[in-house]
Amino acid sequence: MEHSFAVEPEVKIGRNDDCWCGSGKKYKKCHYDFDAKLDEYRRQRFLVPPRRILKNPAQIEKIRESAKINIEILDYVGTHIQAGISTLEIDEWVCAITKKHGAVAATLNYEGFPRSVCTSINDIVCHGIPAKDVVLKEGDIINVDASTILNGYFSDSSRMYCIGEVSADKKRLVEVARQSLDVGLKYVQPWRKIGDMGAAIHEFAVENGYSVVKQIGGHGVGLEFHEDPWVSYVCPRNTGMLMVPGMMFTIEPMINMGRDEIYISDEDGWTVYTEDGMPSAQWEVQVLVTQDGYEIISY
Ligand code: MF3
Ligand code: CO
Repeated sequence: MEHSFAVEPEVKIGRNDDCWCGSGKKYKKCHYDFDAKLDEYRRQRFLVPPRRILKNPAQIEKIRESAKINIEILDYVGTHIQAGISTLEIDEWVCAITKKHGAVAATLNYEGFPRSVCTSINDIVCHGIPAKDVVLKEGDIINVDASTILNGYFSDSSRMYCIGEVSADKKRLVEVARQSLDVGLKYVQPWRKIGDMGAAIHEFAVENGYSVVKQIGGHGVGLEFHEDPWVSYVCPRNTGMLMVPGMMFTIEPMINMGRDEIYISDEDGWTVYTEDGMPSAQWEVQVLVTQDGYEIISY
């Protein structure tokens, strides 16, 4: 189902008023023409983004600063992760780097999530909770999902890591999941519907013999941890929100080696597993829609 919140036009403002985006420029010199274009799409019943999720250049710069820390975290994990370490140690690295920069981990206490990062091994799809007794071993694949708040601005991205020698099957899953982001990114263009991106990822995964998780997707991000739109990778083309410059969201498909069904752990209420016990892989990129394409903010 598609949202309906943005179908109604937003408040009209005068040409000489300050623009609603907070740029400090006059409306007529800033988003006036943009709004006229958006109104035309709205009349044609396109799902257009609400103003509150569009970022101005100053906000984008703040989000980039946050993302630098997120990237530093994932780079650090890449050079230190190995068999024998526990996922709680990864959490400690994340805490230390985050703290060093005066930032806050977005997952910590988020709806009760108890740690500063998600660590999801093998058949865990996402939202794995770091723990002392979860120790990495040769042949594991793990997603480390970091999200940082700096001065109130959010970044969110994740990568897969292979521990020592990994089976050819798992290696291919990890690689296809990574490539699926490149496939999706080709469709991130202003004035195109976001479902084109999701559908392309789905087709690519299925061509490779995999399935894509339906129930969990990406999200708008930047001013909040989770903003509109919700981003699906199991959707028809020519559906979903119109992408426009200033929109920012994550692309983070969860690609399963086996079937797409998942379940959430009864024990902790967070950890998401594949129903069939087969491995799952996910990479996450935070992307900004620009005037002529996209910019990667965090990866
Ligand atoms: N980084 C995850 C995301 O993509 C965070 C999920 S919420 C958590 O949205 F509490 F599980 F961390
Ligand atoms: Co995310």
